[in-house]
Amino acid sequence: MLQTQINLEPLIQKIDKLSPMGHTVQKALALVSDPSYDADRLAGVLALDESMTGMVLRLANSAYFATAHKIASVKHAVNFLGQQNVKSLLLSASVSYLMNRPLPGYGLNRGELWTHAIGMAAGSRLLADRLGTGLAEAAYAAGMLADIGMLALDTLLQEEAIPNMNARTAPTVDLETQYLGIDHATLGAAVAKRWNLPDLLVDAIAHHHHPSLAGQGAKLAAVLHVADAVLVKNGIGAGHDTSNYPIEPAALEVVKVKPDDFETLFASITPLIQSAKSSLNG
Ligand SMILES: [Fe+2]
Repeated sequence: MLQTQINLEPLIQKIDKLSPMGHTVQKALALVSDPSYDADRLAGVLALDESMTGMVLRLANSAYFATAHKIASVKHAVNFLGQQNVKSLLLSASVSYLMNRPLPGYGLNRGELWTHAIGMAAGSRLLADRLGTGLAEAAYAAGMLADIGMLALDTLLQEEAIPNMNARTAPTVDLETQYLGIDHATLGAAVAKRWNLPDLLVDAIAHHHHPSLAGQGAKLAAVLHVADAVLVKNGIGAGHDTSNYPIEPAALEVVKVKPDDFETLFASITPLIQSAKSSLNG
């Protein structure tokens, strides 16, 4: 069924409602993204949430930061970690919780979307860092959130009973538009906008499957697109798209990557996925 008009609001709310940490994380993300960032105010918000408190303290005391003294308060941890690390952690924690579920409509078992999101975050940061664009942290956040729209579209895809879902030629992102009237990238961008994330991220998420259509987020969208291709071609979060990820050649040029580099890149991303998982799980 082709829907010409789609109401985004119930889909955005569906994603919001999936997370019990939603309000704390949204409030904290808005604070940490604010140009007049106030670490004490952020610490105050995080300290009200038991799971966020635990996660911030665990990261501050993790081997990654190798502190000489134990950090025991959220306020101390937030100041010690710095704005960008806290922002990455908030996104990882929130998205990780949301993404760790099976998505049968996409052919993904429990944990597969989660691993893919972490891989997208780590891989995009790696690529952006190599380019020296100063976009590394934005790439991490955008990578983590790029596929969040799938959470609301999964059940709709299942209901559509798309013919030959496993043995078709069109990529899932095109089938979403064809059958649901919206794709997960557009919906993900709407969620990112609702969470007050910067326009650059919103634009990059919206166009991560078609980076040539992006505006201010064009470089970031190309980074996401290439990281996604590297992961999917190696079976991470591929679902029904295993052999079906159309890459825009222009994006490879923007990111300065050749298809021959995919294997080496994947080998660099794999340990980053492992370490991100262990810093979240303790
Ligand atoms: Fe995607």
